[in-house]
Amino acid sequence: MLELYDPSQDPHNRDLGTPAKVSETQVALEIDGVTVTVPEGTSVMRAAALAGIQIPKLCATDSLEAFGSCRLCAVQIDGRRGLPASCTTPAEAGMKVTTQTQQLATLRRNIMELYISDHPLDCLTCPSNGNCELQDTAGQVGLREVRYGFAGNNHLDEEKDVSNPYFTFDSSKCIVCSRCVRACEEVQGTFALTLEGRGFDSRIATAADNFMDSDCVSCGACVEACPTATLAENSLIALGQPERSVITTCAYCGVGCSFKAELKGEQLVRMVPYKGGAANRGHACVKGRFAFGYATHQDRVTAPMIRDSIDQPWREVSWEEAFDYTARRFKAIQARHGRNSIGGITSSRCTNEESYLVQKLIRAAFGNNNTDTCARVCHSPTGYGLKQTLGESAGTQTFDSIQDADVILVIGANPTDAHPVVGSQIRRRLRQGAKLIVADPRHIDLLDTPHLQEGLHLPLLPGTNVALINALAHVVVTEGLEDQAFIEQRCDSAAYGEWREFIRDPQQSPEAMAELIGVPADSLRQAARTFAQAGNGAIFYGLGVTEHSQGSTMVMGIANLAMATGNIGRSGVGVNPLRGQNNVQGSCDMGSFPHELPGYQPVTDDSVRQRFEQAWGVSLDNEPGLRIPNMFDAALAGSYKAMYVQGEDIAQSDPNTQHVEAALRALEFLVVQDLFLNETAKFAHVLLPGSSFLEKDGTFTNAERRINRVRQVMRPLAGKADWEVTMALSNALGYPMQYNHPAEIMDEIAGLTPSFAGVSYAKLDQLGSLQWPCNEQHPQGMAIMHEETFPIGQGRFAITEYVPTSEKASRRFPLILTTGRILSQYNVGAQTRRTDNQAWHAEDRLEIHPHDAEERGIGDGDWLGISSRAGQTVLRATISERMQPGVVYTTFHHPESGANVITTDNSDWATNCPEYKVTAVQVEKVSQPSQWQQNFNVFKARQRELLNSRHAADSQPQA
Ligand code: SF4
Ligand code: SF4
Ligand code: SF4
Ligand code: FES
Repeated sequence: MLELYDPSQDPHNRDLGTPAKVSETQVALEIDGVTVTVPEGTSVMRAAALAGIQIPKLCATDSLEAFGSCRLCAVQIDGRRGLPASCTTPAEAGMKVTTQTQQLATLRRNIMELYISDHPLDCLTCPSNGNCELQDTAGQVGLREVRYGFAGNNHLDEEKDVSNPYFTFDSSKCIVCSRCVRACEEVQGTFALTLEGRGFDSRIATAADNFMDSDCVSCGACVEACPTATLAENSLIALGQPERSVITTCAYCGVGCSFKAELKGEQLVRMVPYKGGAANRGHACVKGRFAFGYATHQDRVTAPMIRDSIDQPWREVSWEEAFDYTARRFKAIQARHGRNSIGGITSSRCTNEESYLVQKLIRAAFGNNNTDTCARVCHSPTGYGLKQTLGESAGTQTFDSIQDADVILVIGANPTDAHPVVGSQIRRRLRQGAKLIVADPRHIDLLDTPHLQEGLHLPLLPGTNVALINALAHVVVTEGLEDQAFIEQRCDSAAYGEWREFIRDPQQSPEAMAELIGVPADSLRQAARTFAQAGNGAIFYGLGVTEHSQGSTMVMGIANLAMATGNIGRSGVGVNPLRGQNNVQGSCDMGSFPHELPGYQPVTDDSVRQRFEQAWGVSLDNEPGLRIPNMFDAALAGSYKAMYVQGEDIAQSDPNTQHVEAALRALEFLVVQDLFLNETAKFAHVLLPGSSFLEKDGTFTNAERRINRVRQVMRPLAGKADWEVTMALSNALGYPMQYNHPAEIMDEIAGLTPSFAGVSYAKLDQLGSLQWPCNEQHPQGMAIMHEETFPIGQGRFAITEYVPTSEKASRRFPLILTTGRILSQYNVGAQTRRTDNQAWHAEDRLEIHPHDAEERGIGDGDWLGISSRAGQTVLRATISERMQPGVVYTTFHHPESGANVITTDNSDWATNCPEYKVTAVQVEKVSQPSQWQQNFNVFKARQRELLNSRHAADSQPQA
């Protein structure tokens, strides 16, 4: 049943006109005879709205600072001359305000008359008809006639800008309220729009000819802010006003933005960022806001399919036959090759409840611990490193805490592209004066934040993170910049003493390390001093930290720096891993790793296992199972024969593609559950249709540990949500699972996982979301961790010896390749490539510095062969000064790019997280695709043919 959203019950649904103000001083005033008390600094307009009095307005909205241009909100204030604008007038103690008089009514009608005289009166055919603030305000002020005709100068014939694939700018309807300009500045931080000209000639413009060619990043904040149909979603223009909505959570990145999915029948009209979402506060990015078309794309797999070998056509079968066939094959393989010959992979795109069920199926029905998840290839070092030092495998803060930071250190992350809403939140704080330090081989957009006052880029060489963090800590320790009180009270003194000896060694100094890191010693010293002395220091990091041979060491180095400077346990500080996929935190929390049951409880711990054995009614293996890379190795060695992969495209996302493909080919039986025939599914024998986030109930946990509800918006295209599929498969395997709703799965999780003990759907519905741990001590969850103490008692400094990676530039491979993401595409691109986001990034390119390009005679757009010791691929060149000479960069959103054909199987010493970020390569001009790409294209065409020639259910019995 759809849980529809009731706007009348939601305080976030009211527009109070101007933003809330925080003050310890309260002021009481009288508005239309009603006494209202508000924090000092609150506008008269907001105070009135809080008292239930709606003052007409057009240029004001509570997500933006007041501007005071339309004058519709004029009021009368006793003792004041004229009729001040209530949106820009702060409430004062003792003020007496009148919002309705004959004079005010006449003024408002006159203003509206002027607006309407230059507005096309096509309300009946306008996409905003019925949901237009201009229309509503005209009604509110009682406009009955427009004395000025349309004969004079007007803007009614202005051309529409239809360049953006997702929204249209129809300037004939523009009332020049500048809400869009302010949204782009204040909410998004891009400054793509300006108000050009004066008086009648005022118009909204970008710096280019149209939106698409401008700096606009298509976040939709201006569309959301526009009170008219001037900026409107194309889907709204095509489908008309929605009728109802459901609150749910974005399925792209780890920010976890909340949305109102607005529907007409079962048709999704638009995704509107939800103001009540604690992670995003009403903002979003181009992916979550607009790129949802993949969910109903024609490529969706909508019926289960089976085949005996990968060179056979698929055969559509009933769900029952698919479950029966799959269970029989898994059991037969275990009977022949032993209990440990099979395993599976959970998905960080699926819900917590679904990941929980997959790992439960593997442990209880397969009878082993061969479960792993894609966090293995992204943030597994975060889990390990933070657990060792701070005692919990998760980020320490809320995103709101960014607004209290004085210095923000970003290491190996590109928030404006990969976590755009957090990027906007950081930009807001930087505009207010916070300092920025970026440690990244590449110049990232955050460094170009408009109105940034102090930004420092440390363009380190890939692979030298640990040397850099040690050099920063060395300065802190040797220049007396430590927070001694924090260290004494909160940290283990023996571990600190050992670390202090290690870090103060001159070998760790900026001067000793500068050449190796590729950053001048002075810059390193300046960065360390700024971070330690600026006040609240917050560290944000991404895959540029974890995807290294020393990923775990670096995470511990970050925790060391935060502890040494006392930047843990309050708002504005902390260690903030920017998680990649929507539920990568959740899939780890749910026990997806081979050595841990849900809640990071070791499988080797007898008492932990006993609790699960009792609840699950089965005996559990006490040996940790295989990690993903071990699964591949074991498949090639012949001891691992079959696997169940839910919602992960390992053939595209994992390093050393040739090795992965060989392992997948070596499997006797592969079951893939996904939305599309992805790269991994091309090697599969059973393809189970996946369900998109719009088709199911559940929860996602974002990078703040925030558990957000995912609510069903439409029925599953193939008839079953992923949790129902796993449940049915388990039953077919002979291990009974019976849940009527994901809420029951969450109840089971809460019963077995101490950090989730207080979580329930009822509580989530009541609070909107909550951050774990949520238990008896923290019944409403915990926003900021480690305020008083660490889960391990005292913080543990760790020795972080720098060990250079074995992947080094050489004469044969003189350049270092590093990889990253782009705003418009997402991870392996399976979703975004099936949307209009292709308009921004239809291919992966190799970014190369002009110096390296010139040396090789490379021009922009040339085809380049990129070779490493693992393989070769071919991409086109983009000449760019974002990189330093010697470093090249690419993204990995398109499978035919083969970015992972060249990445090696080097990995983090502790967790096996692949070293995606450092690959020694050579680059040369070429004229044809690589051998791998040619093979890829043949295989892809063949698999597409086998899919297209699939037999319908029951048309041809399988042998
Ligand atoms: S879509 Fe976003 S970036 Fe583009 S103009 Fe609007 S607010 Fe600015
Ligand atoms: S486009 Fe919309 S928000 Fe922008 S000035 Fe015009 S009416 Fe106002
Ligand atoms: S992709 Fe990330 S930032 Fe963008 S809307 Fe979704 S959760 Fe928010
Ligand atoms: S709403 Fe106050 S001046 Fe426009």
